[in-house]
Amino acid sequence: MSKQYKNKKEAALTLQKFYSALEANRQPEEAPLDSDYKSKYNLLLKRFRELEKVFDFHRGIIQQISSGVITTDLNGSITFINRAAQDIFGYHYLDIQGQNISTLFAEPEQGTQFFKRVIKEGHQYQSKETYLITKDGELIPAGFSTSYYLNPENKEPEGVIFIFRNITVVNNLRRQLERMERLATLGEISAGIAHEIRNPLAGIKTSAQVLEESFSPGDFRSQLVSRIVKEIDRSNDLLKRFFNFAKPGRPKQEFQDIEMIIDGVYLLMAPRLKKRNITFHTDFSSEMPRLYIDGSQIEQVILNLFINAVEAMPEGGKIMINTKIVKEYVFEQGSQQAVVVEIADTGRGIPIDQQEKIFNPFFTTKSDGVGLGLSISTRLLEENGGKIEVDSAEGKGSSFRIYFPVIESDTSKIR
Ligand SMILES: Nc1ncnc2c1ncn2[C@@H]1O[C@H](COP(=O)(O)OP(=O)(O)O)[C@@H](O)[C@H]1O
Ligand SMILES: [Mg+2]
Repeated sequence: MSKQYKNKKEAALTLQKFYSALEANRQPEEAPLDSDYKSKYNLLLKRFRELEKVFDFHRGIIQQISSGVITTDLNGSITFINRAAQDIFGYHYLDIQGQNISTLFAEPEQGTQFFKRVIKEGHQYQSKETYLITKDGELIPAGFSTSYYLNPENKEPEGVIFIFRNITVVNNLRRQLERMERLATLGEISAGIAHEIRNPLAGIKTSAQVLEESFSPGDFRSQLVSRIVKEIDRSNDLLKRFFNFAKPGRPKQEFQDIEMIIDGVYLLMAPRLKKRNITFHTDFSSEMPRLYIDGSQIEQVILNLFINAVEAMPEGGKIMINTKIVKEYVFEQGSQQAVVVEIADTGRGIPIDQQEKIFNPFFTTKSDGVGLGLSISTRLLEENGGKIEVDSAEGKGSSFRIYFPVIESDTSKIR
């Protein structure tokens, strides 16, 4: 033994420090010198390090897992929230610890019901879908699973473990896929029908024109026949639109300035806006890459959205268009930088149960509507690598956002 304590007091003090460090889960600064204690110390230190490793390993798993993990006690008060859950909800764990789990559900009542079923009936949820609410009040669709948290020693339930996943991206992809399937089927059917009808229509029109010529001018029957011809032209026009919808034509993509396209549409619509008491506001991003798109197809999309906005505001209102760049947006080919064009109005809004249907072909709520504007737009966007999303509050207004991938190779910034 190389070193001795000076006196008993020093020995006691070192020992005391040593044990209190162990108790507080800290590594002791100084080992007791006595050989007996020294070996005990080394043994304890080894166990301590092993435990620390196991602890770090488990904590690492819980913190690094991409799902949100939250535990509660038997009353539903939050006892732990991992990093992914902090990211999902925007809370720091100190903000949320001790609060009731139901506050994280968009409908707290529903959250309470879920919790009660787990606690009282031992029910276990598996990928149950619901809406959660973040610290900023944003609603996010999520799937969650539950299980009891059992005390490791006596195996008594001590609380509940909630595991969450944000399913916004999954939901969007699922919806877009469904939409595309519907459009594809409809596209094929309408192309077939349009084709079959246009041929006989051409025949009818020729015959009607011949008939028209056989009446003397002023004969009322001649007016009837010319009405027939006019109606045939109208039907033909409609069929042509179906046709366009089924086969929109290959986009002629070039690098285009999206803001110029928007300005062009505005000029076209300006007289109508004025007549309807609608004001127009823009907020364009200060830096905007050119987009690789078919200008006339995208112009049609923006025009459709514009017309819908106008039609949603019979009493007047505001149309706001803003553009910006987002770092990441999930396209079919993966997530990448995107330009977002948002077209918002202060019109009647869209009831939540209709928000998915509006993209269906022929869905319309207007007495004189055709219901093809949004489905054609979706289709055209798809052809140009873009996406469309809607947000709307009934009675307040709607906002349509279209996303375009930023093609890296274009370094020609406009401003
Ligand atoms: N900006 C908007 N505000 C309110 N409702 C809208 C808006 N845009 C679209 N809609 C709803 O979506 C439906 C489908 O739109 P669309 O496909 O353009 O067909 P249409 O305009 O012929 O009805 C509309 O009938 C309307 O109910
Ligand atoms: Mg429309």
